[in-house]
Amino acid sequence: MGSGGGMAVSRGLPCVLLLLDCCWLCEAGAGLAPALYVLGDSQADAGTNNHLPTVLRADLPHNGVDYPGCKPTGRFSNGKNFVDFVAEHLKLPSSPPPYLSICNTPSSNSIYLSGVNFASGGAGVSNQTNKGECISFDYQIDRQFSKVHESLVQQLGQSQASAHLSRSIFTVAIGGNDILNYVRPSLVNQVLSPCPPTQSPDEFVASLALSLKDQLQRLYKLGMRRLFIIGAAPLGCCPVLRGKVACDGVANYMSSQYNIAVASLLRNMSDKYPDMLYSLFDPSTALLDYIRQPEANGYAVVDAACCGLGEKNAMFSCTPASSLCKDRTNHIFWDFVHPTEITAQKLTEVAFHGSAPLVTPRNVRQLCDTAM
Ligand SMILES: *[C@@H]1O[C@H](CO)[C@@H](O)[C@H](O)[C@H]1NC(C)=O
Ligand SMILES: *[C@@H]1O[C@H](CO)[C@@H](O)[C@H](O)[C@H]1NC(C)=O
Repeated sequence: MGSGGGMAVSRGLPCVLLLLDCCWLCEAGAGLAPALYVLGDSQADAGTNNHLPTVLRADLPHNGVDYPGCKPTGRFSNGKNFVDFVAEHLKLPSSPPPYLSICNTPSSNSIYLSGVNFASGGAGVSNQTNKGECISFDYQIDRQFSKVHESLVQQLGQSQASAHLSRSIFTVAIGGNDILNYVRPSLVNQVLSPCPPTQSPDEFVASLALSLKDQLQRLYKLGMRRLFIIGAAPLGCCPVLRGKVACDGVANYMSSQYNIAVASLLRNMSDKYPDMLYSLFDPSTALLDYIRQPEANGYAVVDAACCGLGEKNAMFSCTPASSLCKDRTNHIFWDFVHPTEITAQKLTEVAFHGSAPLVTPRNVRQLCDTAM
């Protein structure tokens, strides 16, 4: 074959593949991914903890005051949380339901095909974090997602199940509670973590990264190929850790070290598993910008929670007895640690369409679009 013809074929091929890819997506319902699987903590919890006997819950007002229908759903927010916005950006018909709300229903198997949310308020990388008060990240992976994986294989067969999972987006938000409990062991309940930490902040973060690496590898083995992972927020600036003027330096240091370690472990993982793609979103950089320049970002209150009690509304979570701010759109924080709906929406926008250093090595839109 002449070299000219060969060139034409090799130039033409990617276009044909792109076209086929697009048609396949259109037929599948125009979503950017066939499914969204969510694991992690309260940033992502859509009602998991409503099913647990736990103090870590958000199923009472004023949570949900701005949610459609004005009702508390278990989201630690005045409205939607970031996973709801991720589902919207992916053009999915709905935000994935909590696994515990559907796993015993007759339609569970078909729901698994479009995505499930395992996230549980209080969960950490360490299965000791808030033990007994949440579904640990280990349990989410090894006992819950593994069951969904099994169901997908039974329904679709191994190779179709792998193909389905390889196009699906996995969202992971974990690590913040480990750092919060390290910095302030009494945050939830002195009984839950009665011992002062024996590791230095650096040692602690390194041990988190080691566990997280193992957990992400287990998800890879269960079919995860497109990972959207959210790093730690600047936890020292959350109302609960904030001092009169300054953010807590140790907590912010640990958040930033954690984010550096997660970036390193993901680079290592993608060397080891070239067919794994990821987007790492660093919410610290974006949030610190909002905190330092509130007006430019549409905020008026950066240090106090909208819903809570006591100084800066930072004592206790949001309950019917809490005071509630009037304008939820000019507060960064909803309660003592969680962002308002508007903040979650802004951050998700950055994760989908932003660039380095906020989101690396690709944004979430590119994570969906990259062919494998
Ligand atoms: C808890 O974590 C430890 C250390 O990573 C691990 O050895 C153990 O198997 C985990 N326990 C459960 C129930 O997952
Ligand atoms: C990534 O790999 C490098 C080189 O092997 C190693 O030094 C580093 O500790 C690894 N990072 C993580 C977080 O595992």
